[in-house]
Amino acid sequence: MAKRSLRDMDVAGKRVLARVDFNVPIEQGVDHLSIYDHRLKATLPTIQYLLDQGAKVILCSHLGRPDGKVVEELRLKPVGERLSVLLARPVTVLNESTGLTVESSVNSMSPGDVVILENIRFHPGEEKNDQDLAKALGSLADLFVMDAFAVAHRAHASVVGVPRYLPSAAGFLLQQEIELMGKAMEDPARPLAAVLGGAKVHDKILVLENLLSKIDKLFIGGGMAVTFLKSLGRHTGASAVEEDKLDFASQILQQAERNDIPVYLPEDVVVASQFSGNPPESKTVGIDQIPPDWYVMDIGRSSARKFVSELQKCKTVIWNGPMGVFEFPAFTEGTRQVGEALAALNNTTIVGGGSTAEAVEELGLMEKMTLVSTGGGAALEFLEGKILPGVAALPDKGPC
Ligand code: 3PG
Repeated sequence: MAKRSLRDMDVAGKRVLARVDFNVPIEQGVDHLSIYDHRLKATLPTIQYLLDQGAKVILCSHLGRPDGKVVEELRLKPVGERLSVLLARPVTVLNESTGLTVESSVNSMSPGDVVILENIRFHPGEEKNDQDLAKALGSLADLFVMDAFAVAHRAHASVVGVPRYLPSAAGFLLQQEIELMGKAMEDPARPLAAVLGGAKVHDKILVLENLLSKIDKLFIGGGMAVTFLKSLGRHTGASAVEEDKLDFASQILQQAERNDIPVYLPEDVVVASQFSGNPPESKTVGIDQIPPDWYVMDIGRSSARKFVSELQKCKTVIWNGPMGVFEFPAFTEGTRQVGEALAALNNTTIVGGGSTAEAVEELGLMEKMTLVSTGGGAALEFLEGKILPGVAALPDKGPC
């Protein structure tokens, strides 16, 4: 059932509390905010709509994991400054999220004003879904908009608690993520492919289980390919193999075969004599020639070419996980080739997951994908077929 949309509410002149996810990699320094601001930009349509309608906009976000305490480095001030640049208007950043000062700031707002509450996870009640906190947040506003897809998998006070106390609706970003990802999984243009990568099979078990009954082709790269190759009896050198996932990998391959779903694993790989960004030696080898003490770092060129030519035949692609150790610039090639090919296709490409989104952002391919999910854990849980509590807490479609 579709959820009530922001457009179904009359927001003019109202105080609207919007839960957003501005959890950006602040530890990389404030200067990096202009590079990793996908989550801020993705929320702009909702904020801009609220402003255009004459609402008073109160934003609430978490940043990092301060564990219910004030952590100076995790204050939202730099994020507010970046948002102010993106919105081209002043943004007031409060240094608390509840209390008298906050109430008086909010009460003196005029239509078109934007305020950001301080990092909501400084409050010990947030992660416990404390109802007093939810009520206190609710008392700041007339309406609630949930636009933080990336934290919709957390049953926290500002996510699932506030909708109990205020008329609520889904923001445009949340709606877009759910609709596009939902359609890709449930009603896609076919063929539908899943491209899975990243370090571990462990992280993708539920995604694989959920997607296997829906997809027409499966591509596996990244560190998780090593465990799949090992399950086929290949020698995978010194690369980490998830021994306890070998049976699972075999079962997935067998089930795919039974269901007539082709599975593409790397035919060649880039290996290095040391697991580092600058190893003494690295080279590309066929998967039967991985030297015993070397590490698999990326898919090789032939594999990337094969993946790309098969992906070009697909109408919908769900991509989760880099093809190699993307954090080392020397081993980004496989991810780049797959990313660029997907970006060039005139099909539906859904990019889910934190590190995949970061890779796409670094490669400058953001605008060319149908959807780059702002969610890491939330996108994974959605692809696993789970109902996200932050979505479930919203009322079904219809006027307030
Ligand atoms: C994320 O970065 O995936 C979201 O902001 C959720 O953050 P969390 O994993 O700390 O809850």
